This record gives sequence, structure tokens and C-alpha cells, in this order.
Amino acid sequence: MTTLDLAAMVQRHGGDATRLVQILHEVTAALGYVPPATITELAARLGVSRAHVEGVVGFYSFFSAAPQGRFRVRFSDNITDQMAGSHALCQRMLDAFRVELGEVSRDGLVSIARTSCTGLCDQGPALLVNDRAIARLTPQRIGAICSLIRGEVPLPQWPENLFAIHRLVERRDRILAAVMQPGEGLAAAVARGKAATIAELERSGLRGRGGAGFPAGAKWAACAAAPGPERYVVCNADEGEPGTFKDRELLMHHAELVIEGMTVAAFAVGAQRGLVYLRAEYPFLVAPLEELLARRRAAGLLGRAAGGVAGFDFDIELHVGAGAYVCGEESALIESLEGKRGIPRNRPPYPVTHGYRQRPTVVNNVETLAAAALIARDGAGVVRDVGTPKSAGTKLLSVSGDVARPGIYEYPFGVTVRQVLDDAGAVATQAVQVGGPSGTLLAAREFGRRIAFEDVPSAGAFMVFDQRRDMVAVVENFARFFAHESCGFCTPCRVGTTLAAQMMTRIATGVGSRRDVKDLARVAGVMKAASHCGLGATAGAPVVAALEKFRPAFDQRLRSLDVVPTFDLDLALAPAREATARDDQAAHLDEESP
Ligand SMILES: Cc1cc2nc3c(=O)[nH]c(=O)nc-3n(C[C@H](O)[C@H](O)[C@H](O)COP(=O)(O)O)c2cc1C
Ligand code: SF4
Repeated sequence: MTTLDLAAMVQRHGGDATRLVQILHEVTAALGYVPPATITELAARLGVSRAHVEGVVGFYSFFSAAPQGRFRVRFSDNITDQMAGSHALCQRMLDAFRVELGEVSRDGLVSIARTSCTGLCDQGPALLVNDRAIARLTPQRIGAICSLIRGEVPLPQWPENLFAIHRLVERRDRILAAVMQPGEGLAAAVARGKAATIAELERSGLRGRGGAGFPAGAKWAACAAAPGPERYVVCNADEGEPGTFKDRELLMHHAELVIEGMTVAAFAVGAQRGLVYLRAEYPFLVAPLEELLARRRAAGLLGRAAGGVAGFDFDIELHVGAGAYVCGEESALIESLEGKRGIPRNRPPYPVTHGYRQRPTVVNNVETLAAAALIARDGAGVVRDVGTPKSAGTKLLSVSGDVARPGIYEYPFGVTVRQVLDDAGAVATQAVQVGGPSGTLLAAREFGRRIAFEDVPSAGAFMVFDQRRDMVAVVENFARFFAHESCGFCTPCRVGTTLAAQMMTRIATGVGSRRDVKDLARVAGVMKAASHCGLGATAGAPVVAALEKFRPAFDQRLRSLDVVPTFDLDLALAPAREATARDDQAAHLDEESP
């Protein structure tokens, strides 16, 4: 077994416990897992409790305290991967190594599992093997991968073309057509001044592209006005919403624009440090981003007196996540940046006043920051003059599923769903899931609706399902996703997502009843009303929408509409009631007859 110099490793990270997630990545890269003795030693060296380190290891799906294979294969399990045949390909590999899903082969060579969407939906099916991503899987490619694993060929010696990520950009507008020289945005912001830069952002009407649509100018203004000398800018590059991959394109081919946006933000709000929180599923972005940051340091655009501005000392570091969708939620992301489990914080206070290290922090999505860089250079009009009055600018859509031309499409806000479908070459479309599982499920009669905050909002995902697709199977995939990704902190989401997934599986496999359908709607209601964060609050949305819009697909799957299941939902919630010391009426689900 490889030996590890933990002392040197911890020292390289300055003995800083907030670097714990990054340290665990290094341990996992060297050993394949985090052995108990390593957990003990890390805790001692970082000055934190063993329970803390163990809790962090247990929280993130890319870490494990139990031995894993020397080759750790994770098949992307988004619905689009599934539609492209990922389950059969996964089975082929399981058979080849005579191993069960989620297990390690007896010789310790390989472990094979499924993971949530890896953000390669435009070129799926996809998988991760250790810290490399492979797209466009076919039986032939699976055969080649099996041979390389069987021959124990080290990953750096695998043919490079296996790891190629194709660039599929189908429509460019303001952001994707922009050309910006390094430092241009910052120079314009410096010439304009801090307050005027924020005012220009406010005039542009730019709203956050990460999902919630919060006005970017107001966020920067609140951070700038917050008391204290220490501030941070965080780029949310977690992009965990299944079906979204537009931030991948921006960071692969327009990273200069994104980093420029972070630098402008730091200048405007007075931040000294920036952090890019990059999802672990994009390992191919780590080296190029590090190189870009190094180039900007060498050019004087980062570091002391960045951009030649006396007193503006600003640098950016990269932080890699570890396979937890909830860490895209900004307060969970900050917890993760601080080396902890990604449990969403109570809000208020918000990150603009109490963010990273409890200091004022701007958290913006990758696309928001790219747009902000353009606004700094070209003025508010670059966003204000396109789109709709309530949704200024353009939006990058990640189009995947049943279309002839999957890829990235940049449109002015206000584009109809039908227009996107026509451009992407969709035929006989039955449904579109806009904004990922937590977004909006649209039936054909709604394709005249518009992508805009005031109509159909979207963080970027646009998954298309034609008439061949079983919408029950689609929604079951989403329900399993939420159950897998619930962080478990609060009861409505922890219990509700699990129950919803179980009921969806029963229905999808033809053993569900009308009672399941009814319970699904009730569980979704409880999650929406009582969950601690947006994950739980939206987890029931696709189920509710599918029940409303595709009810015949459900009814056809119910073997007996009237069977009363032996499973009692209210009884199943008893442990949750006990844990929360509640037994009032609101903590019970009413017992209607099915
Ligand atoms: C469960 C969950 C996951 C999220 N994932 C992301 C994400 O991957 N990327 C992102 O930018 N925002 C994500 N968000 C939204 C962030 O909390 C936050 O609103 C956003 O990063 C702010 O940036 P913006 O104002 O530029 O959109 C997520 C929210 C929730 C509730
Ligand atoms: S809603 Fe779900 S993800 Fe959010 S805090 Fe509760 S358990 Fe965690």
C-alpha cells in the first residue's frame, strides 16, 4: 500500500482545518479511501475532533472510510445517461469483473457504483474513473476500459482520446461571443470607481444565474456596505443540478471572463480573497484553471496591487467539492469551503454579511460573474438591452435528451420553449424538464411558454423527452436523485425524499397502488412546507407536476388501483416524530381512506 506523509501533506495546507476537504482528496488519490488511522491522525494534526473528520468523510460521496477499488468507477446516473443506455453499459462492466453494484472486487482491483449527474449530458453516457471523466460510452469503449483496468494500466497511461470532452456550442450571443483581454473588465471598473461599478451592475438588471435570480447589483452593494475589513468573493461552480453543463463550457472555454468577473467583484466590494468552488465531477478543469490563475498572477492581475491598483491585494484559490449536490446551496457551499459537512445554514444571516469565516461574502454563479465582467467593460446595456423587462440579458441553456443537436444554447431571456426545441431538432416531444429535477416539468401544451424569471425560470438545464419515454421512469429517477442527495439534516426532507423514492419505485415497477399516488402528493406537500433548504422544498415538485400533467402514465402502471398497501405512511413517520419530540396533529399525516 502507498504510504502517506500526512505531516507534510497537512503542512502544505498550512495546518488549516478549513482545507480538510482538499486534504481528503489527496488522501483518496493516494490510498483510494481514508483509513480509520488516517482519520485519527488528521484530526490530531489539524486540531479538530476525530468525529469532525469522520463526519466529513462520511458526508461526501467521493470519500469513503472503507477500502475501495484501485480503480473507482462511477457511472453517471442522470436520466439522460439512462436514456442513452448507461444501465446496460454499467451491467456489462459489473459482469466483466463479476462484482455487484456498489461493491469492491475481491482482489481490490475495481469498485463500480452509480453517482448523480456528472454534467456530461450532452455527450453521455458518462462515467468517472478515479479523477478522470469519460464521455460518449459505448460497448466498445467499456470493453477498452475493462481491458485497461484488468491490465492495471495507470490512468496517466490510458489513451488521451478516451478522456476527450467535446465542445458542443450551438448558439452564441452576448456571453459566448464575447472576446475579452485579461484585465479589461478590471481596468474599466477601476476607471469607473467602486460605487459606480456596483451602480452599473444594478442598472443592468442582472439577476443571478444560479437559480434564485437575486439581483446581482443588490448583492454586491449589501456586501460592500457590510461592516468589517475582511471580505470574500466566491464563484459557485458546483453545477450539480442534473442536466446542467453550461458552467462547464464557461469554465473550459471562457474562464478568463469568469475570473475577470470575480476580480471586478472583489474590487467593487473590497474583497481580498476569492474562492472557486468547483464540482469534483469536473476534474479536467482543475489544471487549466490553476494555469489560468498562475498566468494572471504573473501578469499582475492577481496578487498584491492587482491590476496595478494600489491597495487592491486580491488572489483566488480553487476548492474542489466532493460529490454533494447540496453543496451548490450557497450556505452549504460555504460550510464545505470551511472544511465541514455541507449542511445548509440557518438564514438569515445571509452570506453577504456572514459568509465565509462569518465575514461578508459575495457568492455568485459562474454565468453571473461572466456577465458582470462584460457589464464592467461594456456598460449596463450589454445586459439591459436584451431579454425581457424582468429578465434582462441572455441565458445559457444546457440542452440534452431527445434532440438532434444537444449542447449549449445562449438565448435572450424570453425565448419560447418551442423555439429551443426547434433549434435543437427535437421531434415528437412529450415533455421538457426546465431547470433540472428541482425546476419545471412542461407538457406539450405549454411549449409556448418563455424562459424567463417571470414565466419558466431556469438555472440552465433543458432536458427533452420524446413520445417514447416513460414519464414515470423519468420522475422515479428524479425522486431517487433527491433521496440520494438529501443531506439528512432535517426530517421532512430526509424522510420525505426516501418515502417518495420508495413509492415512485413501487409505481414504476408496477406494484404501486392509488394510495401511493395519494401519499406522494401529501409527502411532497410536507417537504415543500417544512424543509430547511431549497433541496427539500423542491424535491417533490417533479412528482407533483408529473401527477398533474402525465396522470395516465401513472394510472397505467398501477396493477390494482384499489389495493391498500400494508405500508403505513403515518406509522413510518413515528421515529421522526419521536426524534423531534412532536406528536401534535400537524406532525401526523391525516388518515384518509385510499
Ligand atoms: C440544493 C441547491 C443547489 C444549488 N446548486 C447551485 C449550483 O450548483 N450552482 C449555483 O450557482 N447555484 C446553486 N444554487 C443556488 C445558490 O444557493 C445561490 O443562490 C447562487 O449560487 C447565488 O448565485 P447567483 O446569485 O449568481 O445565482 C443551489 C441552491 C440549492 C437550494
Ligand atoms: S432540506 Fe434536505 S438537503 Fe436541505 S437541509 Fe434539510 S435534509 Fe438537508
